[in-house]
Amino acid sequence: MTARLAGKTAVVTGAGSGIGEGCAKGFARHGATVIAVDLNRASLDTLKSELQSDGLDILTHATDLTDPAAVADLFEFVSENSANLDVLVNAAAVADFVWIEEMEFDQHWRRTIAGELDTVFLACKAAWSMLKASGNSAIVNLASANAYVALKNSPALAHTAGKGGVLAMTRQLAMEGGPHGIRANSISPGMIVTPATEPALERPELLQSVWDKLMVNRLGTPEDIAHMAVFLASDEAGYITGADFRVDGGALAW
Ligand SMILES: NC(=O)c1ccc[n+]([C@@H]2O[C@H](COP(=O)([O-])OP(=O)(O)OC[C@H]3O[C@@H](n4cnc5c(N)ncnc54)[C@H](O)[C@@H]3O)[C@@H](O)[C@H]2O)c1
Repeated sequence: MTARLAGKTAVVTGAGSGIGEGCAKGFARHGATVIAVDLNRASLDTLKSELQSDGLDILTHATDLTDPAAVADLFEFVSENSANLDVLVNAAAVADFVWIEEMEFDQHWRRTIAGELDTVFLACKAAWSMLKASGNSAIVNLASANAYVALKNSPALAHTAGKGGVLAMTRQLAMEGGPHGIRANSISPGMIVTPATEPALERPELLQSVWDKLMVNRLGTPEDIAHMAVFLASDEAGYITGADFRVDGGALAW
């Protein structure tokens, strides 16, 4: 594998599972110094030992990205352990999938908005001064196909709001970051098989809705998203900012 991210330090949130884990592995394999972040300490330890058995190493930090004080501590840890910060991948999120009639304001709606938007805002805000100091840095946010369309049989109301927000925030971050050499882009995955989606994919009617939209004859994997994240973080994407990339097996094209 070529070292497309050599010399770059990347914070990858949500690295304990699914897409964030795939990104952390992809970044480490492409030569980045990775600081992997998640709520779940044990999954970070597993990720670290998996990479170590491949001869790679990462730093890890367990934290709750919805807590402003904890996020401030995280970026203190980053500045103590790295002279520079060049990439922030915001993959951490939690969402409740509930039909509107059953959706509770605090338990589902607010938890999802905090889990999908506060996590991105707080990390971007706390990382900003280091990303600015880099002068050649990139934010990669995880939006969703659900920022564009509703998927039949999926109770995704709060998630559509959260990811629509991430899509819009990314354009604003790109505009504010431009003068400082900070690029900001998002990836909108279609249905990717991860621990977050596996239970939903066991519902035959939802699985059918997903298959009905696919042009590529398989479900998506975290690696499909990691390939795009590596590209967006690399200097090959130096003229790309304020953009969203759909990695969805064609689902949004018809
Ligand atoms: N899987 C999909 O089909 C899909 C589709 C579109 C968008 N996305 C987005 O991609 C991202 C990753 O999704 P995934 O399917 O890999 O999810 P996942 O649940 O498998 O992984 C998310 C990780 O984030 C961590 N996390 C959640 N809240 C956190 C917090 N407050 N602080 C720190 N860590 C926290 C979790 O512990 C978990 O390890 C999310 O933003 C999700 O919305 C996923």
